This record gives sequence, structure tokens and C-alpha cells, in this order.
Amino acid sequence: MARAGSKAILLGEHAVVYGIPAIAVGLKNGARAEARQADRATIRVGTRQATSGDGSELSRAFDALLQTLGAPPCSVTVEVDIPTGVGLGASASIGVATARAVIEATEAGAAAAADPRKRLYEAAMSWERVFHGNPSGIDAWGAAFGGCFSFVRGGGVHSLKVAVPLTLAVAVAGPAASTREMVEGLARLRDRKPELAEKSFRGIESLVKNAVLCIEAGDCVGLGKLMDLNQMLLAGLFLSTDELERACDLARGAGALGAKLTGSGGGGCVVALADQDPSPILAAWRQAGLECFSSIVPSSAENTEAPS
Ligand code: PMV
Repeated sequence: MARAGSKAILLGEHAVVYGIPAIAVGLKNGARAEARQADRATIRVGTRQATSGDGSELSRAFDALLQTLGAPPCSVTVEVDIPTGVGLGASASIGVATARAVIEATEAGAAAAADPRKRLYEAAMSWERVFHGNPSGIDAWGAAFGGCFSFVRGGGVHSLKVAVPLTLAVAVAGPAASTREMVEGLARLRDRKPELAEKSFRGIESLVKNAVLCIEAGDCVGLGKLMDLNQMLLAGLFLSTDELERACDLARGAGALGAKLTGSGGGGCVVALADQDPSPILAAWRQAGLECFSSIVPSSAENTEAPS
């Protein structure tokens, strides 16, 4: 069984569209895939099924992935363990798990690729391009390598050194809004109120810079405060909702060091930084009827998979 994780943006969403770096983390929950060589390439993801050449997005993505790997036809079955369509990078997770399963099924005993991590990432990116056109690569990176990383639009992804493990809790606080609509809405606000937008982006930029220092120094209390401030600035840009604010408040009330929306806002997910034990936060969310889970980002010393 091949596995892949998912991702959450810790700080800097939306500002990243205007050239400011953002910070994301890999979450351990994601997708599991099994593959075997077959006469025809077929893939089943939950209840969705596709066969090579049937014209569906799923089949085109699968064909692109097989082509990038130079792999023979396979039959693949994928199960997804995270909520989909809420900004956690489920499609990249499915792509990474599928690529790993195909590699396992077709190359057992074969000489290892010169750069297996790059190959896996490229296969997942060719899959992602079918669904998302021009993906930034953060979803595929988070799903494949986990850890904590910064990214600049068009400037690639870079691992950060995580000094102490980060215990995160994630809740779905309402249906997700369309990322495109949220980004376009902010662009309109920026046209109307350029000073407000500029001040907020500069604020977020400084929060991101300080967050990198906190992550590298193991200062979780400081990191949590920066997440709360980031949430305040995002809310000031009309990207939050009552449900997101309520989920953040519940997490803070249950001892979270910080909490904020993650991704495009307007609905979707909240990420909270726990002070070691995430269970009080999860209990508070579950009592409020929210779907949620926890995930630990290991310290860099423990995570050997993320390329440096
Ligand atoms: O919800 P996600 O994971 O697709 O993140 C959206 C992040 C934005 O900054 C709002 C948009 C973007 O393209 O970076």
C-alpha cells in the first residue's frame, strides 16, 4: 500500500498571490493507493472510475502520470482519508499515492532512478496540471515530502528547518468557497482600497518572516501568536466567515496557541497549533459538529524525506 499526505498553509495565503512568501506544512492524512500491472490503464478513486483514453479529467491525469514515469499500463485503486475540495490538496495527495503505487508495482527490483524524489514530484505535477492548469507545486510537495516549507509564487519551494515538532489540528468549518472567486474578490478590494490591501500585505509579510524564525527556533508560543495576527489581517480583508471565526475561537478556548483559516477562506478549513496535545481542540470542534483531525509535523531531524 502506497501512501501520501496532504497540506495546509500555515501563514501567508492570498498575500502570496502578490509576491509575498507563504509557509505551508505537510499533513500525514491523505490518500492510499494500490497498483498492479494490467493490459489497460484503469484507476478507481473512491467511487470514481476511469479508463485510459476515455476523455475524463481523471483518465487524462492518470495517463499523464504514467507517461511521466514511463510506466506500463496499471490498474490502480485509491482511497482518500481527508475531506476533498476544502483546500487540503486532496488531488495532489491522490496523485502522489498513485505515482508511488505505480513505481512500487512496476519497478520492484529495478535500478533506482537517479533522483527518485524529483521523479515522484514531476509525476504528481503532471497529474496536477490536468486538474489545476498551472499549480504552484505546494500541494504536490506537501503530499510527497511533508515537513514545513516556504514558497514564493513562481519561485519554487524550500524546506524550513523545524526545531520542535508542530502539533496541528484541522477542522472543516463550512463549505469551501471557490479559490478563484476569493482571489478575484480580494483583487477588487485592492483596486478600491489600495492602501488597506498594501498595509495588510506588508503586515502579513512581516508575520511570515517572524514565523520562519519561530519555526527554526522552536518557539511555538510565538508562532501561535503570529497565526492569530495573520487571521486578524485576513478577516480585515473580508476573507473570513462567522463559521471560521467560531472554529478559531473554539480552538483557542480549548488551549490552542493560535488558529486561523487556511487556504482561500470564505469557508473551508481552519488550522490550529496545539500546545502538544491536540485532543481538547478536537473534542471542542467535535462537540460543535465539525469534522476534524490532528497531524504532527516532525522536527527536521526526524523527517528524512524532505529534500533540503
Ligand atoms: O485553498 P488552496 O490550498 O488552493 O490555497 C489558496 C491559496 C491562495 O493564496 C488563496 C491562492 C493562491 O493561488 O495562492
